[in-house]
Amino acid sequence: MADIPNCDLKSLSPLQLFEKVTEQGEKVRALKAGKAPKDEIDAAVRMLLSLKLSYKTTTGQDYQAGLPPKDHALINNGTTKEEDEDLVDPWNVQTSNAKGVDYDKLIVRFGSTKIDTDLINRIERATGQKPHRFLRRGIFFSHRDMDQILHAYENKKPFYLYTGRGPSSQAMHVGHLIPFLFTKWLQEAFDVPLVIQLTDDEKYLWKDMTTEKAYEYAKENARDIIACGFDVNKTFIFSDLDYLGSSTGFYKNIIKVQKHVTFNQVKGIFGFTDSDCIGKISFPAIQAAPSFSSSFPQIFNGKENIQCLIPCAIDQDPYFRMTRDVAPRIGYPKPALLHSVFFPALQGAQTKMSASDVNSSVFLNDTPKQIKTKINKHAFSGGRDTIEEHRKYGGNCDVDVSFMYLTFFLEDDDKLEQLKQAYTSGELLTGELKKVLIETLQPLIAAHQERRKQITDEVVKQFMTPRKLAFEF
Ligand code: TYM
Repeated sequence: MADIPNCDLKSLSPLQLFEKVTEQGEKVRALKAGKAPKDEIDAAVRMLLSLKLSYKTTTGQDYQAGLPPKDHALINNGTTKEEDEDLVDPWNVQTSNAKGVDYDKLIVRFGSTKIDTDLINRIERATGQKPHRFLRRGIFFSHRDMDQILHAYENKKPFYLYTGRGPSSQAMHVGHLIPFLFTKWLQEAFDVPLVIQLTDDEKYLWKDMTTEKAYEYAKENARDIIACGFDVNKTFIFSDLDYLGSSTGFYKNIIKVQKHVTFNQVKGIFGFTDSDCIGKISFPAIQAAPSFSSSFPQIFNGKENIQCLIPCAIDQDPYFRMTRDVAPRIGYPKPALLHSVFFPALQGAQTKMSASDVNSSVFLNDTPKQIKTKINKHAFSGGRDTIEEHRKYGGNCDVDVSFMYLTFFLEDDDKLEQLKQAYTSGELLTGELKKVLIETLQPLIAAHQERRKQITDEVVKQFMTPRKLAFEF
């Protein structure tokens, strides 16, 4: 960011100032990480302090990362977030509740539908598969139009899956596995094509990153995604920087969306301001376009009406609220969605695990020792202060991060229930619960790393080449 004279700072709104501080904070971190010259870092830090001061003078509040000024946190198509509500958007997840985001309230606020037992039973009947633990345990908890997808499937009509990743760093974290593991299960259960978007363009626009770096991360992240076990004959992975230039179908859909969404609408949905670059403002159309089958003529033989199902965590929903709003106006079916809860940060469920905060995350390239140290050192515990108290009153699984992680990754329902009872009664201590988690994650991540090692450049290229998949349309 260029230096801003103080008089210009005064003309900025609290939200614009908030964004400037955030942006400058990212710049300082990038300079430090890149071991930039000391005077450059010092200048950037001075600018950061000056921005923070202006923010405090304007809003009367201290700047807090991830928490926009209270009356400016736009969440839902222009409606303003109430003071005590959780903050959930593609860039921030923040709640004051140690149990995590109130997902029932979020369903009401976002206008989606809860995944109930009837829907889970219907998925089981349609696929003949035992529902994935993410469904059994309410980790995928909300949907839009999943009943339509099932209706189509029961009537032998095709659909396809679409999900994605913003390659912000070389290594993905275990939280990122959630949508991909579930997508793999869906792909196998329904036997449908899958497209995976790598938004390297998004990361170039939002971060202090060159296009080359973003593209490099896209290919690195593709390896982690492929290591989840996707079938190359049924899956197309694409980098926006690559595919956009080579596919007229994709680009046509992008501009169709751009023509039908106004600046006012994206401001309302995403909180963009007048000072955001136009790349950010038009980016949502790029994330929307893969929801339409005509973006992939090579897969769908030019068909425009194949319905799409998008599994993702609920932070991505704003993109798809916009997409669903615009779809009928450009003659396409609305994409359906399956939303997951967030895999919490090690420090507690007040925020999600995030690759930009190294200490909040267990990464897919962590060593067994790093996994053990991070969990023992950082995983927030719902245990009591002393062993005596713990034995007497028991631990609290609702806020215990190790227990939460086990609900995502321990397959055995009975074992999970036993752990819950033992911890709640005080029979099981925090250190013992952490040990179970460490022993669950270490082999899982080691196996992932082993599969990743087998993935050659040639395999990545195969997945990322636009081509027909093993389906007739
Ligand atoms: P990104 O890279 O932030 O996240 C990739 C996917 O992981 C989910 N996710 C999480 N799930 C559970 N717990 C967490 N702590 C957690 N953090 C991230 C995200 O919801 C997402 O599903 N703009 C997108 C990339 C994208 C995309 C898509 C995602 C493009 N098209 C279609 C989903 C569907 C992004 O930056 O995701």
